[in-house]
Amino acid sequence: MVKLTYHGHSCFIIDSEKNSIIIDPFLNGNPASDIKPDDVKVDAILVTHGHADHLGDAVEISKNCDAQIIAPFELVGYCQNKGAKGHPMHIGGGYNFPFGKVKLTIAHHGSTTDTGATGNPCGFIITIEGKTIYHAGDTGLFMDMKLIGEMNEIDAALLPIGGNFTMDTDDALKAVEFLEPKIAVPMHYNTFDVIKQEPEEFIKGLSGRSTKGVVLKVGESLTI
Ligand code: NI
Ligand code: MN
Repeated sequence: MVKLTYHGHSCFIIDSEKNSIIIDPFLNGNPASDIKPDDVKVDAILVTHGHADHLGDAVEISKNCDAQIIAPFELVGYCQNKGAKGHPMHIGGGYNFPFGKVKLTIAHHGSTTDTGATGNPCGFIITIEGKTIYHAGDTGLFMDMKLIGEMNEIDAALLPIGGNFTMDTDDALKAVEFLEPKIAVPMHYNTFDVIKQEPEEFIKGLSGRSTKGVVLKVGESLTI
């Protein structure tokens, strides 16, 4: 049994029988977050790109938990320079970790930190206990999502819907058509005024389709 818990913006904690991982831990300074870095006990930290609303508290959590940051190569280098542990990867590469498999996908976006560019952003295909989760990171809609859908039986797709920086609701609905996940969960909306969206519109747009839309409130969990 795999449990996904939403902690606002693009942050999720995934718990399996034995392990716990966090994705994009933007907690301090996140008006939508319900937890603080000290609350987090995880075996790994996955980060899609260097923007502060995704990298967030990854370095602090890595130090607290003695856990690796799994991210694109250049971003892991940045984190290691700050004293974090890291496992660098890159687009198209997959690796079997003790908690499960992680593969990096493309994401059409940027990746910068306070010291400059940190390579390419990514999305993650995560397989844990036979369940597959696709976290798209920050991205615009792209045609290769069709390939990701063809090559993976996705149990849950976590998709940005906020617009301005990423896909909006209409583009995320097209992404669902390409990915054909069992469940689609919207993310990256309403944290800031510029990404205001009504997530129920996304759910309505999925009616009559084979994918079930689930809006997770902050702190809410979904078991897949
Ligand atoms: Ni971003
Ligand atoms: Mn973002």
